[in-house]
Amino acid sequence: MRLWVMSDLHIELTRGWDLPSGDARPQFDVMIVAGDLMPRAERGVKWLLERVPDRHVIYVMGNHEAYGEDIDRTLEKAKEIAAGTNVHVLENESVRIGDVTFAGCTLWTDFALFGDERREMAIAAERMNDFRKIRTARYAERFRPAHALARHRRSRTFLEAEFRKDRPGPVVIVTHHACRRPELRLSDPPAPDELLSAAYYSDLTNLMVPAPDDGRGALRPADLWIHGHTHSSFDAVIGGAPDAVLGGTGTRVLSNPKGYGPWPPREPSWENQDFNEKLIIEI
Ligand SMILES: [Fe+2]
Ligand SMILES: [Fe+2]
Repeated sequence: MRLWVMSDLHIELTRGWDLPSGDARPQFDVMIVAGDLMPRAERGVKWLLERVPDRHVIYVMGNHEAYGEDIDRTLEKAKEIAAGTNVHVLENESVRIGDVTFAGCTLWTDFALFGDERREMAIAAERMNDFRKIRTARYAERFRPAHALARHRRSRTFLEAEFRKDRPGPVVIVTHHACRRPELRLSDPPAPDELLSAAYYSDLTNLMVPAPDDGRGALRPADLWIHGHTHSSFDAVIGGAPDAVLGGTGTRVLSNPKGYGPWPPREPSWENQDFNEKLIIEI
């Protein structure tokens, strides 16, 4: 199965670029859009339906989909528009296409990357637009780091249950937030900007190591885990197990975000120079 993989298209901050069409479009079976397509997920679904009417699309919301919106309401509206179409909006849900299981969620983060959840949540509350521009509780409240953490925990529980289910073929996870440790060297003492990485990454690599049945089923890690949010490309195999009995070969973790731009004349190209608008991954 050929997957056309991308994220962080940020159409709201893009001029003069569109999804490749016609002959410029690669051959693919399923398109994967790992969040930050544009604010309001229902508009994202419409944008995808106009451009990709004849192939399955897996779409998860990024943080930007909820800007200016209630985070649950925009998801509901997106699902209403996507119902019965080829676009699958996943939030703690999975869909099977052929023998491949696709499981998706926004994910958010555990703020635990540097071991001081409260400090990292306070820094994120102060510095991130997410905690100014998103509403929750039917617009009644401002979305806060504690809401993000609660959502992360629900998604983590969902993902672990997926890894322990019987399945006929490969599993592809699609999240917006990153599931791994970043390659970072912290200053001493760490600067608040560096600690902000805890709002981008959670170390979920223990879900990439096979584990025996503890009564909930054996844990078989994902074959491929696609994420976005960081605006830099990544492709590496993480986890696995040397134990041939468990048979773990690890999870290929991959990110292909465009980021902001182009926005000529000031930004003639897109933000992530490694973005490949025709990236195909075979599963
Ligand atoms: Fe983004
Ligand atoms: Fe994002």
